[in-house]
Amino acid sequence: MTTTTAVTVRVPAKVNLQLAVGPVREDGYHDLVNVFHAVALFDEVTVTGARTRATGGAAGLSAEDAGGGPASHVDRVPLDASNLAWRAADLLARESSAREPVHLHLRKAIPVAGGMAGGSADAAAALVACNAFWGIGLGRERLLNLAARLGSDVAFPLVGGTAVGTGRGEVLAPARCAGRLHWVFALSEGGLSTPEVFGAYDRLRPGAPAPRGDPALMAALAEGDARAVGAALSNDLQPAALALRPALAETLEAGRAAGALGAFVSGSGPTCAFLAESAEHADRIADAVRTAPDCAHAVTAHGDVPGATVV
Ligand code: C5P
Repeated sequence: MTTTTAVTVRVPAKVNLQLAVGPVREDGYHDLVNVFHAVALFDEVTVTGARTRATGGAAGLSAEDAGGGPASHVDRVPLDASNLAWRAADLLARESSAREPVHLHLRKAIPVAGGMAGGSADAAAALVACNAFWGIGLGRERLLNLAARLGSDVAFPLVGGTAVGTGRGEVLAPARCAGRLHWVFALSEGGLSTPEVFGAYDRLRPGAPAPRGDPALMAALAEGDARAVGAALSNDLQPAALALRPALAETLEAGRAAGALGAFVSGSGPTCAFLAESAEHADRIADAVRTAPDCAHAVTAHGDVPGATVV
């Protein structure tokens, strides 16, 4: 019998191509229509045996920068049970009876607290890696269910590609994205807190209507028409993110001036996203947005790409 000594899972970042936000619900969440799109910026989560007397779940966590540059901010990753990846390992251990405790190592390229769901991606990767390491063999539906319990954005990185999230974002329907889209991401020095951005949204937009999907965006994606995708990109949280971080307006303007097909705040920010015509155009936009005062770092990545995968 062979024993698994390490499992590594690669998982993508996401950008929201539409983020329509309804009024705050009684449980404190907001109903969303959230078009998730996975992009080729990857974290890797490696699970190994932890060699402790503890039983089940995670017993340790470490993180390193994958070399994506200063703005991946690996020093801000919590290395204890407050990390969503640690909680994912604990949840899976509880659901499947106690197993050998594990150590989780995160190799991060997805910016921390950047509105690209890096923490959620790591949690999704931890679920897949622990499922394989412990030989539990849970199917996709069970993993999606556990992911939704961990957070609104954890289910999507399991699936990847492009998908429409409803409910609080965790109910997913796959969507077609033809061709390759070229993106630029402008990363800021500090993060923005998701609950604070939603709170600012509630103050700025009391009595928001129920969120609705955008057929023009879905048609543009299915046709692979980047120009039409650019025209249809939208994020209801953008005014709230700009209110909390006014300097982002200059970053967006720098990308528009460089001919971006779309320029918008990614999710709850502060990362700004730009759609380019080609990989070369993306490089030019990246050079332009780097000159904006709030931009600490700019990276390019294409989409869409598959979800969490054992490597
Ligand atoms: O589900 P998750 O823990 O990722 O959500 C983080 C925070 O984002 C929530 O506590 C809530 O403040 C906000 N949120 C929301 N409505 C959603 C998703 C997240 O208000 N649909």
